[in-house]
Amino acid sequence: MIEIHNIHKAFNGKKVLDGVSGVFETGKTNLLLGASGTGKSVLLKCIVGLIKPDLGSVTFDGTYFTNNKLDIRQEIRRKIGMLFQGSALFDSMTVEQNVEFPLKMLTDMTKEERKERVDFCLKRVGLEGANKKMPSEISGGMKKRVGIARAIAPHCTYLFCDEPNSGLDPQTALKIDELIKEITEEYNITTIIVTHDMNSVIEIGDKIFFLYEGKKLWEGTRDDIMDTDIKELNDFIFANRLMRDAKKVEEEEREEEEERRYNGQLASQGKEKAPSEESVETEKEPHPDNPEGPAATTQTGNDKV
Ligand SMILES: Nc1ncnc2c1ncn2[C@@H]1O[C@H](COP(=O)(O)OP(=O)(O)OP(=O)(O)O)[C@@H](O)[C@H]1O
Ligand SMILES: [Mg+2]
Repeated sequence: MIEIHNIHKAFNGKKVLDGVSGVFETGKTNLLLGASGTGKSVLLKCIVGLIKPDLGSVTFDGTYFTNNKLDIRQEIRRKIGMLFQGSALFDSMTVEQNVEFPLKMLTDMTKEERKERVDFCLKRVGLEGANKKMPSEISGGMKKRVGIARAIAPHCTYLFCDEPNSGLDPQTALKIDELIKEITEEYNITTIIVTHDMNSVIEIGDKIFFLYEGKKLWEGTRDDIMDTDIKELNDFIFANRLMRDAKKVEEEEREEEEERRYNGQLASQGKEKAPSEESVETEKEPHPDNPEGPAATTQTGNDKV
């Protein structure tokens, strides 16, 4: 579990983070969501210690990190795996050398142990046999997989991913999302993913933190996000067509359910026929203003006009 408290950060007098607090739970995929420029990456960097916050604290499983002694911070850093936006692989190294790199830096594993761990991690991300390939020879999705393998290789306890889907087609993006979620649950690690991708929210948003102009405006699960009253969050959600459609379907289903319930109540009170069984006539006799009669105003319970 990672806890952040009242994180502030400004650059040259311009406030970027304005008192962000939150708890990122273990075994869950926690998303930092927000529009471009709202401070998501800066917050992630403050959490992992790449940027020093002006104010506030970060705690990893109860151990204070920010401003703690160097050896304690290094101890925590050793447990952090990071997947950068551009995968940040070393172009001159093969896939297996890239994954082996943090093992050489951070562990005292023997060569054989490292080889075994590299093979295991590559297999885990579905890249068995790609050991000798160069980054230039593999696709963007494969690079992300190598990045994930490299991040988890030293048995990370905390996994940070900045925009893991950027530049990927929707299907590959979904596979990467699923892989990160699976790994998070399988190894029971604490994962924080920066994203502005609403597809990720739907697929893997165990916990979502919505950032807006440097503040956390909302937090909740992917199930709650459909029912929020926060205007800024709704605007963000509706900017995404897929979510707009999903919300529309959900609202239509809810309306239909309410109509069915309402009509069921009416039917049970004997005031109306149950709409699911047959048409409901709204008027029995032609109205003086509507000489064509009921046919023009007849509708079924489930149809919309
Ligand atoms: N090292 C820095 N020095 C000065 N300003 C910075 C620095 N890093 C980030 N910023 C500024 O902080 C603001 C937030 O940047 P950040 O990269 O966190 O946005 P973001 O939410 O990750 O956006 P995106 O979705 O585009 O990646 C931006 O205005 C950016 O210019
Ligand atoms: Mg960013």
